[in-house]
Amino acid sequence: MSPKARIVVIDDEVNAATALETLLKEDGYEVASAHDAHSGLALIEQNDADVVLTDLRMPGMDGLQLLTKLKQARPQTMVILMTAYGTVKNAVRAMKNGAEDYLSKPLDVEELEVVVERAIEKKRLIEETRQLRERVAEKYKFENMLGESPAMLHAFKTIRQVAPSSASVLLLGESGTGKELFAQALHQAGPRRTRPFVKVACAALPETLLESELFGHEKGAFTGATNSRAGRFETADGGTLFLDEIGDISPTVQVKLLRFLEEREFERVGGNRTFKVDVRIVCATHRDLPKMIADGAFREDLFYRLNVIEIRIPPIRERLSDVPLLAHHFLREFAKRNGKEVRDLSDDAMALLLSQPWPGNVRQLENVIERAVVLAEEAVLTPTHFPTLRQTLEVSEASRSVKVAIPGSSLASIEREAILRTLESIGGSTSQAAKILGVSPRKIQYKLKEYQRGTGAVVARPRAKKA
Ligand SMILES: Nc1ncnc2c1ncn2[C@@H]1O[C@H](COP(=O)(O)OP(=O)(O)OP(=O)(O)O)[C@@H](O)[C@H]1O
Ligand SMILES: [Mg+2]
Repeated sequence: MSPKARIVVIDDEVNAATALETLLKEDGYEVASAHDAHSGLALIEQNDADVVLTDLRMPGMDGLQLLTKLKQARPQTMVILMTAYGTVKNAVRAMKNGAEDYLSKPLDVEELEVVVERAIEKKRLIEETRQLRERVAEKYKFENMLGESPAMLHAFKTIRQVAPSSASVLLLGESGTGKELFAQALHQAGPRRTRPFVKVACAALPETLLESELFGHEKGAFTGATNSRAGRFETADGGTLFLDEIGDISPTVQVKLLRFLEEREFERVGGNRTFKVDVRIVCATHRDLPKMIADGAFREDLFYRLNVIEIRIPPIRERLSDVPLLAHHFLREFAKRNGKEVRDLSDDAMALLLSQPWPGNVRQLENVIERAVVLAEEAVLTPTHFPTLRQTLEVSEASRSVKVAIPGSSLASIEREAILRTLESIGGSTSQAAKILGVSPRKIQYKLKEYQRGTGAVVARPRAKKA
């Protein structure tokens, strides 16, 4: 019995309520009582009750009405109904409406104690399960992003930390690593989520067009400007402006952007009205900005303004432990979207996925799985469903540079690395890998399953140093 559980007793018969209160207090509970449903509801809220014992027949709001109200407002509170007029019909209705149990008056003390204890225990279990589920969901999923590698969990944490502020964020990552998804997550997880998220693909527009796209223009600013027009900065007021491919903007636009970041104001092209807006800037690039600065192609002062917080999204080859999670996620998604019965990946297929260099990162993985699912006629994907992937491999240059740190890694991580890298070097044959490693093929298969389920040790990779 948990002595601290809080109980509220509601009965219009004052003596009955008092007797019950005394009895339950002696059992070690925190108890309060009320004599009508309305004050009972207030008491439940005030005490944050775990369990409510309520009479069924009461003047005004009766026990069933109270039950309905309570289950809407506080579904976590357990309700036990008591009645002297106990009929099967009432009991059934009460249980259907979410009552935990039913006691008939006069109360049998022993039965009462058992029923109350059971309700408390059940509530505790529900609460525990919910917390556990939340923790798991929180760990591997953030907004629409999945990841369980240390690098991604670290990135999720950073996003949670910086989302509430308005500080500029620079997202660095190769093509297809999820920069746009991160930018959206930053917006969604922060107080600006109800305001616009505006994306500008900077590389897609020539210099003059980009300038007017961002800052707007006044009538007559250039040939063809027959009307004045607001730019994206104005559209994004109160929200987030995502400048994709920031490394591709011209010196003129760089100057204007710098001014905005310093003074939070700008003029439209061809105008002298000054606009002030409240916009959070999130930028992304796959370019090496420090190198561009050294080459004189990007302003250093702008770089520091944009780079208040830098988030580097590692390429897939530096976080292979995310591959099983992502692959299964995409498999389920595309199977559902295409009405296919594809359920799983064979161990060989997973080994093949784990052996690829993935230059196109998550986007490439997503496309490869989509193609396989769409064309598959079997329920389980095998290496033959991935004809575009390299089936036999020399160890890729990229993966060769990724190693577990010794000392510094757990034995499980080292084992995992040994298995995955051996598989990789021989093109995914589990029997051959077993021979090389001197273990049974069953052990390799078992381990691969474990990694797929995500229960295996996560490979601790040294984080790449920032430039
Ligand atoms: N962690 C992740 N979990 C689930 N899906 C992801 C994840 N990362 C990326 N994706 C998916 O991969 C695809 C590419 O992501 P996104 O467009 O954000 O990448 P990017 O870095 O902006 O690419 P590019 O450099 O080509 O612009 C998208 O379909 C996205 O939904
Ligand atoms: Mg992008």
